[in-house]
Amino acid sequence: MPATVYVLNGPNLNLLGLREPEIYGSDTLDDIAGMLEDRARDLELDIEMRQSNHEGHLIDWMHEAQAQDARAVLLNAGAFTHTSVALHDAIRSIRTPVIEVHLSNPLTRETFRHESFVGRAARGTIAGFGALSYLLALEAAARF
Ligand code: DQA
Repeated sequence: MPATVYVLNGPNLNLLGLREPEIYGSDTLDDIAGMLEDRARDLELDIEMRQSNHEGHLIDWMHEAQAQDARAVLLNAGAFTHTSVALHDAIRSIRTPVIEVHLSNPLTRETFRHESFVGRAARGTIAGFGALSYLLALEAAARF
C-alpha cells in the first residue's frame, strides 16, 4: 500500500482563489489538491488533504498522521503559524516529519509574520512559490 502524505491547511485557506489573489494566487485549495494528487500518483504516494479554521483540528490531524504512520505532514498553518505554541508542541510531539509550507513568503511581509512557531519545530520550510510550494514540499516528502 502506498505511503500517505497528510496535507493540512489552516484558517482562511478554504477561501484560496478568492482571498487576496495578488498575494496568494488564483488557484483554489481543490486545484492544489488536484496538482498534488497527480504528482503523488507518479511518486506512488497517497494524499490526505484537509483544511480547518480551528487550531485543535490541525493538532488532532497531526496526531492522526503519526498513528497512521504517514510518510510526512505538509502543514500550511496560515496565521496560526505566527501565534501557536500548541502547533509547535504538536510538531515536536510526533515523530512524523512536518514540512512548513506557505504560498507567500512571510519574511517579505509584515513583521508580525516573521515569527514562525511552526518553522521552529518543522523539518524544513518551503515558502514563496504559490501553489508550487506544496509540490516542492511533496518532492521533499517523497525522499524521506
Ligand atoms: C500563509 C501566510 C500566513 O502569514 C497567512 O496568515 C496565511 C497564508 C501563506 O500560505 O502564505 O494565512 O500561510
